[in-house]
Amino acid sequence: MLLPICRPSKLGQERQTPLCVSLRVARILLAIIVCPWAFVGCQPSNETETAGNVQAPGEVAQATTNQGTSETGSGDRSEGIFERRILPIFHSPNPSSCSECHLSGVDLRDYIRPTQQETFSSLVAAGLINAQAPDESKLLQFIQRAPARSSLDTEQLRQTEYEAFREWIHAAVETPELLARQDAAGPIGPSVPIEVVRHAREDRVLASFIDNIWTEIGRCAACHSPDRNAEQVQEHGDLVSWIVLNDPQATLDYMVANGLIDTDEPTSSPLLTKPTMQVDHGGGQKMVVGDRSYKQFRAFLDDYAAVVNGGYQTSEQLPRRDGEQSFVTDIWLKIEGVPSEFDQRLLQVDLFAAEGDGWSETRVATSDRPVFGAGQLWQQTLSLVAPRGSARAERLAEQVLPPGRYLVRIHVDREQKLATDFRAEMGQEDFVGEVEVQSNWPAGYGAMTVIQYPAAR
Ligand code: HEC
Ligand code: HEC
Repeated sequence: MLLPICRPSKLGQERQTPLCVSLRVARILLAIIVCPWAFVGCQPSNETETAGNVQAPGEVAQATTNQGTSETGSGDRSEGIFERRILPIFHSPNPSSCSECHLSGVDLRDYIRPTQQETFSSLVAAGLINAQAPDESKLLQFIQRAPARSSLDTEQLRQTEYEAFREWIHAAVETPELLARQDAAGPIGPSVPIEVVRHAREDRVLASFIDNIWTEIGRCAACHSPDRNAEQVQEHGDLVSWIVLNDPQATLDYMVANGLIDTDEPTSSPLLTKPTMQVDHGGGQKMVVGDRSYKQFRAFLDDYAAVVNGGYQTSEQLPRRDGEQSFVTDIWLKIEGVPSEFDQRLLQVDLFAAEGDGWSETRVATSDRPVFGAGQLWQQTLSLVAPRGSARAERLAEQVLPPGRYLVRIHVDREQKLATDFRAEMGQEDFVGEVEVQSNWPAGYGAMTVIQYPAAR
């Protein structure tokens, strides 16, 4: 209904819709990232461009004489505005309007120096003030930039900042002694590398949230999504409805506002401690330390905390993006006859599709969960996976595994190394066997694809 790319599936529309919307959001974000509007001028590299904006000292003197302006008069005026309107922004303990999109890394304060002269010369040299057309100054364009959903308070703050800078810039460009002192220019703008500024942008953070958590939300939706959890709400109250339908940004905002994400101590976030049963959870164990979902949740939570706390100073500190994209489905795989000595050990399956007379080079689906030893059983939903940016990655949200022949490779973490070090991965030493399977991969708990644990090798 919402998106042509999301074909209806056996899952039903109510499950599809939020996921499809998230995909659309991700695509819009991608478009923003790939085709940024021209936002030059905030870096020193633009000095050459701006040189044209700055009048030579001689010209200024000439113009001043012609206009008969009193130098002292205009200087006092701009100085007064700087002290009255600009310095308070510089000294304010509160974030500026920029923080609505930049969670850290850059703030309006970074564009102010302690003195008017230094501030002005540096902004001119950086191409952020246009001395000939003050209203076209790039700094004013920065400030005017507003998100689609802006809070009323921030909108007022933005207006105040805009008027302050506009008034001051107008007065300053008419002050010859300010224009004359190009030597007073120093570095201005964010103190962290531009990669860090970009990483801490709200749209990038949302993209990471979608990538790491929203694609997993299918594991939690039955009890936590307001369109499906009427019974849970009756029993446990409105707090169980922490998913905002179709809206990953609002869901993230809710998690932050309601303490489901702990930015001081990310590992104490209920978003992590509840589904791992590190604290009591009405829904039972939904993930274990070290499994794929846990890795993704931790990746987001650790990064989010570092972003909002301004924890990144260099581009080397930024996390590297996972080379694989994934999406949870409602397609179940069950393995019977699993040795009971593997009880509670994490078992991981990787599926490779038949291709020519071999198997696909990269896995097309994966899943992991502890073994139920007493029942000699393992069962779990599959997550579709694809190399990031590949054609297949585009279609993950359709939640379809094409009918056909597949190789299931099985690993078991006998030593429980993933529980000790959540970053560890299963290796060759954990491989226990492989099975070929033919299936149409129907969705739903009642329609599991069943295989037998492979005979001892
Ligand atoms: C509506 C959201 C929004 C607001 C508010 C906003 N920015 Fe940005 N900013 C962006 C986006 C998106 C980019 C990335 C690419 C682009 O320029 O479109 C960006 C990029 C930047 C960059 C880096 C340019 C680059 O090379 O990547 C700087 C520096 C910057 N903004 C400063 C500011 C300052 C200072 C403010 C406040 C006065 C501010 N921004 C307010 C959205 C915003
Ligand atoms: C079978 C139902 C069920 C599933 C599935 C489920 N939960 Fe829960 N969850 C509950 C119930 C019931 C509660 C309320 C009781 C409690 O706090 O433990 C709850 C509470 C929570 C809370 C605390 C909410 C608050 O504001 O107090 C968090 C966080 C949470 N779950 C996370 C998850 C995550 C993450 C998943 C998916 C990976 C998940 N849950 C899957 C049933 C479920």
